[in-house]
Amino acid sequence: MLNVRKVRKDFPILKTGIIYLDNAASSLTPEPVLQKMLEFYCHYRANVGRGIHHLSQKASEEYERARTKVADFINAKSENEVIMTKNTTEGINLIASGLKWKKGEKIVTSLIEHHSDFIVWLRVKNNYDIELKTVRPKGSVEEGLLDVTDFEKIIDDKTKLVALTHVSNVLGVITPIEEITKIAHEHGAYVLVDGAQSVPHMKVDVQKIGCDFLAFSGHKMCAPTGSGVLYIRKELSEEVEPLCIGGGAIADVEHDSYTLDKSPRRFEAGTPAIADVIGLGAAIDYLQKIGMKNIERYERKLTTLMYEEMTALPNVEVYSPDPEQKIGIMAFNIKDLNPHDVALALDVSANIMVRSGHHCALPFIRGLLHKSGTIRASTYFYNTEEEIDKFVSALKEIINSLVE
Ligand SMILES: Cc1ncc(COP(=O)(O)O)c(C=O)c1O
Repeated sequence: MLNVRKVRKDFPILKTGIIYLDNAASSLTPEPVLQKMLEFYCHYRANVGRGIHHLSQKASEEYERARTKVADFINAKSENEVIMTKNTTEGINLIASGLKWKKGEKIVTSLIEHHSDFIVWLRVKNNYDIELKTVRPKGSVEEGLLDVTDFEKIIDDKTKLVALTHVSNVLGVITPIEEITKIAHEHGAYVLVDGAQSVPHMKVDVQKIGCDFLAFSGHKMCAPTGSGVLYIRKELSEEVEPLCIGGGAIADVEHDSYTLDKSPRRFEAGTPAIADVIGLGAAIDYLQKIGMKNIERYERKLTTLMYEEMTALPNVEVYSPDPEQKIGIMAFNIKDLNPHDVALALDVSANIMVRSGHHCALPFIRGLLHKSGTIRASTYFYNTEEEIDKFVSALKEIINSLVE
């Protein structure tokens, strides 16, 4: 069960009285996660996988335990499919640089992607003479809905990879990822899912989706900054070249040759962000205790409330599909006001944090919405209905005082 009043007490920053609606950028960190990281620094602060002494053994045990927690969380078949990265961006780059591209192959993505799942493919296209196809949302651009039939038309036997966001960071719209994955696999293509905005908010099951790669960020799901995950399906781990090689990634080294270790070690050269990974394990415990189904249900309720209250406001342009098709994020503009001015006014007048600008999605914001930016309010499970009401009241005041 989700007891919002109770969980809020776990977040030290909330005691300062802020209303934090910038969760799509990064979430807040609860006390149990901070405590777990402190435990590492105070009691077994040593390197992992390198020492025989008991501190190193304990650190390694906790580090690997976090990996097992991640594997259970996303329902991977094995913890060896879980690679620790620093964020979603690194995970996607690892796949882009690690797959063996051949001229004439094709990548399919969409125009609602975050830059981290877009410009990497532009670079692959330019470097290897690859065809890059971008699917536009169907119907109203402001709803951002991707249509499965468009993917049926574009994915063919030349397609090596379909790379798609699971939830848009601009609109919160949910992509029909399972259906698209099936189509991609019928043509022998791999599927990479950008789970930065889905994994923190709903149950994501890699076996149910059937995807080959899934990248997400710990810092958007109560874990520390510097923690992220890349899932690589077991059968593909040797198909992907690591981004970095060096200490910790090898099975053997001779004076003129080396053999890389198996996954996940082959992908984790150098000393990793140990405290952050252990913190990620604690964040997963925290989320699991609340229950991802409870989190999703509650957030959908907040999203619907926000949608209903905001679409009733005069002079507010809301960019959104029906709330049934989205989660957690509301993008909007107030008449001709600059989005940054609105964000600043919300901060100064009501202590409310939102994001403003292009949200690292210029092809979508500028190319499709034809805007220079939007304001984005994004929720998490510790936000309350009262906070949404206060946010809407603050918007009303801005409209009354700034809109002519
Ligand atoms: C959909 C999506 N993909 C990728 C990213 C990049 O995440 P990170 O900055 O943690 O690498 C974000 C961040 O906002 C995102 O929302």
